[in-house]
Amino acid sequence: MSSRAEFQTTAPGKVILLGEHAVVYGQPALAVPVTSVSVTVTVTPAPDLVIEAPDLALTLTAQDEANHLDHPLFQMVHRVAQRFGHLLPRQRFRITSTIPFASGLGSGAAVSAALGRAAAQALGQRLSDDELNAMVYDIERIHHGTPSGIDNTVIVYQKPVYFIRGQGAVPFEVGVPFTILIADTGQTALTRESVGDVRHLMESAPDRYQPIVQRIGQVVESARAAIALGQHAQLGALMDENHALLDQLTVSSPQLDRLVTAARQAGALGAKLSGGGRGGNMIALVTPDSSAHIADALRHAGAVRVLSTVVSNTTPQGG
Ligand code: MEV
Repeated sequence: MSSRAEFQTTAPGKVILLGEHAVVYGQPALAVPVTSVSVTVTVTPAPDLVIEAPDLALTLTAQDEANHLDHPLFQMVHRVAQRFGHLLPRQRFRITSTIPFASGLGSGAAVSAALGRAAAQALGQRLSDDELNAMVYDIERIHHGTPSGIDNTVIVYQKPVYFIRGQGAVPFEVGVPFTILIADTGQTALTRESVGDVRHLMESAPDRYQPIVQRIGQVVESARAAIALGQHAQLGALMDENHALLDQLTVSSPQLDRLVTAARQAGALGAKLSGGGRGGNMIALVTPDSSAHIADALRHAGAVRVLSTVVSNTTPQGG
C-alpha cells in the first residue's frame, strides 16, 4: 500500500579526503559524509507522478514520460518501482538541496539517494542500504560515465570510508579527531569532464600518468596510517603532496590553487582540492585554534562558502 501522508527523506554531502581520480583506476581513497549540507525530498499526495527540482527549474511528469525516460531522476524512481513490482508512485517529489551543484560535494549522488528512499517509502516499501547503493551507482554511471562508486557509497551509508573500486568500503580508524574546512571556489565543474580528461591522459601517455596515479595510492595508504595514529602534521604534508599530484593530472585550477595557498599561508597543516576538481571545493586541515583565522583567509582569497567538519570514528558533525 502506498503512503498518502506528506513525508521527507534526506541525504548528506561528502568530501573526499584523499585519493580522488586515482580511485577510478583501482587505487584506494578516503572520504567522509558532510552532514551540514544535504538534499531533501518532500513527498506529497498528487493525482500522478511529478518530480520537481525548483532550484534547477525542472519538472518531470508521468504524462511526459516518453520525453524523459533517460533522465536520471526519472530513472531512479523507475528503478525503485520496478524493484517492488509496482507501477510508478502517484505522488509529487519535490527536491531541494543545500549541496552546491557540480562542486565536488556529491550533489548528484545525494539527490539519487534521497529520491530513491523517497520513492520506496511512497510505495510503502523500504530499500536496504546495499540495494539503494547499487541503484545510485547505476544512476551515477548515467551522470559521469566511469564513476568509481565512492560518492554513492559514502552518501548512502553515511559513514567515513576507505574505499577501493570493486572491493567496496571499510571504515577507517581515526586515532584523534581532526577538523577540516571545506571552501567553495564558487566555480561549477562537471566531474564527468575532469574524469574524462584524466582518462584521456591515462590512455594517451600511460608511462607518464600511471606512476602519478600509483603514487596517489601510496599517499592514501600513508594518510590512513597517519589518521589512525593521530599524526596530523604528517597527514597535512600528505594532503599537500596529493594536491601536487592532482595538479599534475591537470585537475586543479587557478582558483583552487589560490585557496590552497591561502590556507597554507594562514597556518593550515595541509590543503588540497577535493572531488573532481577544475573548480568546486578544496579542503584544509586545521586545528581548533587556527580554524576561524584560516576560514577568514579563505574567504578573503575568494571562497564563496566555508564549511567545517570534524572527522572522527563516528559520523562527522558539520558546522
Ligand atoms: C568525484 O567525487 C571523485 C572522482 O574520483 C570520480 C570518482 O571516483 O568516480 C573524481
